[in-house]
Amino acid sequence: MDREGRIVSFFTIGDLDSEAITRILDSATAYRKATARGLRKGKTVATLFFEASTRTRLSFELAAARIGADVVSFDPDTSSTSKGESLKDTARTICAMGVDALVLRHSDVGAPEMVAGWTGCPVVNGGDGRRGHPTQTLADLLTIRSHFGTVSDIKVGLVGDIANSRVARGLIDVLPRLGAKLQLIGPPPFLPGKSRIPFIHSLDDVLPDLDVVYLLRVQKERGATASYPSDREYRRRFGLTAPRMAEMKSDAVVMHPGPFNRGVEIDGSVADGDRSVILNQVANGVLVRMAVLASILEET
Ligand code: NCD
Repeated sequence: MDREGRIVSFFTIGDLDSEAITRILDSATAYRKATARGLRKGKTVATLFFEASTRTRLSFELAAARIGADVVSFDPDTSSTSKGESLKDTARTICAMGVDALVLRHSDVGAPEMVAGWTGCPVVNGGDGRRGHPTQTLADLLTIRSHFGTVSDIKVGLVGDIANSRVARGLIDVLPRLGAKLQLIGPPPFLPGKSRIPFIHSLDDVLPDLDVVYLLRVQKERGATASYPSDREYRRRFGLTAPRMAEMKSDAVVMHPGPFNRGVEIDGSVADGDRSVILNQVANGVLVRMAVLASILEET
């Protein structure tokens, strides 16, 4: 952040203190009502996604458009990356065209900092390896705050492949900071080796106490299957099935960053049911990205 509290680059949720988080969530909330179409007219945002994405890339692009910025989208499969061009040369080339901010998703932890260093261009992390996905964290915070009116004292259970999840990392950093009560739930191989957050291996034991049941996808592409029994066994122990959902508090909600596997960590009827706020997370993702980009583009 700069001296006036504007975001310069956004690498991890740790870049923002609680006041800055509140400011971003407040401006995101304001965008729910007010139009911001002309706000950052004449600015340009480029999205560079080297890993698959549906909601993150599209919501960054919609967010940029909704604050009036132009958007260009880089696709590694149909660009010179397929001819062997490096990340450094790719990023420097795109910035030389007069881009004001980059949104990067990359499998290498720390890639956003490297690109910011090479280009001098503000970079927003759209997910780097297992490390972080800070705008997803903001979308989740906004979803919790909008539903409960606060994040403080809310009991959140994070269920599943925590060790491989960048989404989990962000929540583990920020929820205790904001006063929420966090518990990690999953089979031993899915839990981080060391954590100051309490963890438990049985979902059924804590389910009736939780305000938020936050489910994670098993990250098979990150090698999570080494000690994974089967989808069926996983669902039996940790899947949020309809009978399990009946054990939740009456005002508790179900969250998932997506993409989710129906019939594994979440049953279709639960994902589509009235306790699910998964699509609110998606909608809030656009709003927080508008707020983040608006803050960055104010000074470029
Ligand atoms: C996640 C991601 O890619 O980090 N999805 C997302 O961006 N909403 C989580 C996942 O892939 O499981």
